[in-house]
Amino acid sequence: MQNLQLTSDGRLRHLITLAGLPRAVIERVLDRAEAMRRDSRDGARPLDLLAGRTLINLFFEPSTRTRTSFDLAAQRLGALVINFDIERSSTVKGESLLDTIHTLEAMHCDAFVVRHKESGTPETIARHLRSHACVLNAGDGSHAHPTQGLLDALTLRRRVGDFSRLSVVVCGDIRHSRVARSDVDVLRTLGVRDLRLCAPPELLPAPGTAEFAQCTLFHNFDDAVAGCDAAIMLRLQKERMEAAAIPSEADYFARYGLTAARLARAKPGCLVMHPGPINRNVEIADDVADGAQSLILEQVANGVFARMAVLAELLGGSAA
Ligand code: NCD
Repeated sequence: MQNLQLTSDGRLRHLITLAGLPRAVIERVLDRAEAMRRDSRDGARPLDLLAGRTLINLFFEPSTRTRTSFDLAAQRLGALVINFDIERSSTVKGESLLDTIHTLEAMHCDAFVVRHKESGTPETIARHLRSHACVLNAGDGSHAHPTQGLLDALTLRRRVGDFSRLSVVVCGDIRHSRVARSDVDVLRTLGVRDLRLCAPPELLPAPGTAEFAQCTLFHNFDDAVAGCDAAIMLRLQKERMEAAAIPSEADYFARYGLTAARLARAKPGCLVMHPGPINRNVEIADDVADGAQSLILEQVANGVFARMAVLAELLGGSAA
């Protein structure tokens, strides 16, 4: 995968997964996102780093945050954005994915942002491209969601200095979550040593699952959250579950919902995160989701800067 994602001189070529991506590459993206955030706050002129470039959003699964923020990020850097309308495209006439991609490539575009329910689709596209275009994974099945991992790392990094002393719990539907995988990848690479995963047994991967090696697995959320600096809550992804695996929402909330009482077991000021969309009072209580420790909307805001930084790395040359 590294050969696919990185050029021979170590620059990003595609962004498919954060697994195995060198720490220096990740930190460079985060530093760049931070600079973009600063410029935007200071009212600096929008950048024209991507002027003349074309980005195509290809979302085969629904999205609010990721799609809109890729669109905004690209436009704020001066690119032209096409939000490809899959429902009205020849996909519904049976045109294959790769024929669709080659057709769009023939119109000369520079980047494909791809979300798909099948794990591995962005990688397949990247391997079959016939042009210079790059592929950005916007979430594939339960495999990876690299820009979510980056924006979560950016959000945490703005609040805490030393990642090596952090205790972070990721709680929810770990088994089906591409966010959990990308968050674990990036937090590990940045030095978080105490990473805890908590879920009901049926939503936790089997112990020894390679992606979650070195994480501590919990079934009891009261134990898992104790002494944590940050809690990353995940949505119950019913669309990816077999009917039998769906717990009752009330029972799930009683055992795994982040309530004020549970939050009080964590370190004072424990940061609360969720990639969205939230199922209120299933994964997280209203007062916690909207409370002073919640970074949920800050994650959304940072998503635009993280995606601007990734696009600048992939398409914009080296100047920040
Ligand atoms: C996530 C996704 O689609 O993977 N949402 C997002 O991109 N912010 C998480 C989810 O859908 O639960």
